[in-house]
This record gives sequence, C-alpha cells and structure tokens, in this order.
Amino acid sequence: MTRPAPILGVYLSETLDLKEIYGQALDADDVLILQPEQVTDPEAVKFAVCWAPGAQDFAAYPNLALAMSVGAGVDALLAHPGLTDEVTIARVRDPHQAALMAGYAAHEVLHYEREFDGLMQNAKDAIWRPLPMHAPERSVVAVLGNGTMGQAVIEALKVLGFTIHVACRSKPDAPIGDVTYFTGDAANKDAAKGADYLINVLPLTNTTENVLNSELFAGLNTGARLIQIGRGEHLVESDLLKALETGQLAGATLDVFRTEPLPRDHPFWSDKRLRITPHIASDSMPEIVTEQVVETARALRDGTPLRLAVARSQGY
Ligand code: GLV
Repeated sequence: MTRPAPILGVYLSETLDLKEIYGQALDADDVLILQPEQVTDPEAVKFAVCWAPGAQDFAAYPNLALAMSVGAGVDALLAHPGLTDEVTIARVRDPHQAALMAGYAAHEVLHYEREFDGLMQNAKDAIWRPLPMHAPERSVVAVLGNGTMGQAVIEALKVLGFTIHVACRSKPDAPIGDVTYFTGDAANKDAAKGADYLINVLPLTNTTENVLNSELFAGLNTGARLIQIGRGEHLVESDLLKALETGQLAGATLDVFRTEPLPRDHPFWSDKRLRITPHIASDSMPEIVTEQVVETARALRDGTPLRLAVARSQGY
C-alpha cells in the first residue's frame, strides 16, 4: 500500500536558519518541512513555519493555509502584508519559555534591588562593604500583561516577596493572592503608579504600541527601573532617554528593540545606565516547537480544530 504524501511546509525567516534550529527535532513521516530553495512544487506547500519572515516570503505559495510562529509573539505575522485573512496564524505555547522569561525578569529585578553593580565594583577594588537592605515587599513591581509570560513573571516575583501590581485586559478568574490587578483604559498607568520596577510582557498589538512612554514613566517612583521584555515597538526610545536624563528612571534592561539586531551605532549601546541583551529573555524549546508544529500541521490536514491558532481580532 502506498502511503499518502506528507503535508508540506516551508521554513520562512529572514534572520534565523529555522531548519538548522528545529529540523533535527522533527521526526514525523507525515509532515515534511523544506527550506524555500528545496521546494519544487510551491503549490503543494500548505503551511509555513516562521520567525521574522521577509516581505516577499509568502508570495510563492498560493495554497498556504497556515503560518505558525516558532515563538510566542505573532505580531510580525499579524502585520505581514503577504498574509491574507484566509491564512490561519498559530503560535507555539511553551511552558518552559514562560519559566525562562520569569527567571530573566526576576534576575534583573534582583540585580537592581540588591545593587549587584555596586557590589561587583567594590569586589574589584577589594572593598568589603555590605549594602543596606530592606524588605522586598517595600518595593513595588508593576507588570504589564497577564498572559502566559506575565503570569509566570508575577508568580516568580511573588515568591521573592515583592509587592505586585498587574495591568491586564480583564480580572483573572484565579487571581494570585495579594497581587493587585488593574483593568480598563488606564490599567497601565494605574499599575505603574508608585512602582519601583516596570516589567513589560505585553503582546504587540495596535493598542499596545508605544505604551512605554514619558507619561507612563512619570507615574513611577523616581529612580525606577524598566525591564523591557515585550517587543521593541512598545518603547518610545526618545522617551526612555529623556527619563534617564531627568533621573525619573535610574536604568533599564532592554532585551527587545525596534530594529534587531540593534544597530552598532545605536546610542543605547554606549549608555551605561542600560543593560542590553540580544532578545534572549526567553525562547521556545526546539522539541516543543517541532511537536506543536507537527500537531498543528496534522490538524490542518485532518480539518480538526487548531488548538494553537490565535484570534486575529485580539492580536495574540
Ligand atoms: C520571543 O520573543 C517570542 O515571541 O517567542
């Protein structure tokens, strides 16, 4: 008996070699994913596995029914002019990724809170000088976003004893004890008011673009810190520089940028008040990505519900 042809997909990314990263973990006879240059029959391609696809990347595949992001964010796909509404957009949901995100956020908060820069400088100069401490609950952490990533961040910081404000779309069904949730149009502003740390884990949508701006920073405690692990487009870069100049912000940790890689001549690189990392706050695990891509490709082939599809109207 001849086996049916596998459902065919293509890797599309301008910045990453997705086959190199995920190809190894792919172990399914009925799902085949090729590099664009390996595709001989573009009409047979039914789905794309994507990270930052190029502007023309989808044009060659007239029968594409699904574009799946290997990451949690689907902003690049939702905004892509080459994807019509008929193409379903899906994303990976990896619980390990949320744990990584929480670890990154907690690391940065603790770095500032426990003054590790000062301690390391003292150590370099062989100076034994303990620093003053205060109870973690005296520090307010504002978290923007209460999705899979936001919840993991909130739980981690809660365990560490911080006072937590959360800005979210709607009050959660299972709120975490002692956490204060803010909803409505002013949720971000209300959550940020009087906070010492501002952590952004929002998805990028039309309504969340540019939310990290002067007006929001003004409500924070003087000398607060920003931890930006959402998307570059959330941040008004000139407003960050202004807030650093006035001292409203004492520093910021930036993992995501409007242009990635961050251009070599960007002023952020040389600013000592910034801690910069190359979009590594979290990542989805190759084995989870491949498992979920295979699950989604099979559901597409079988016409069964796509568990990992995103709601276009919601933007995530
Ligand atoms: C990372 O930024 C992701 O979207 O998974």
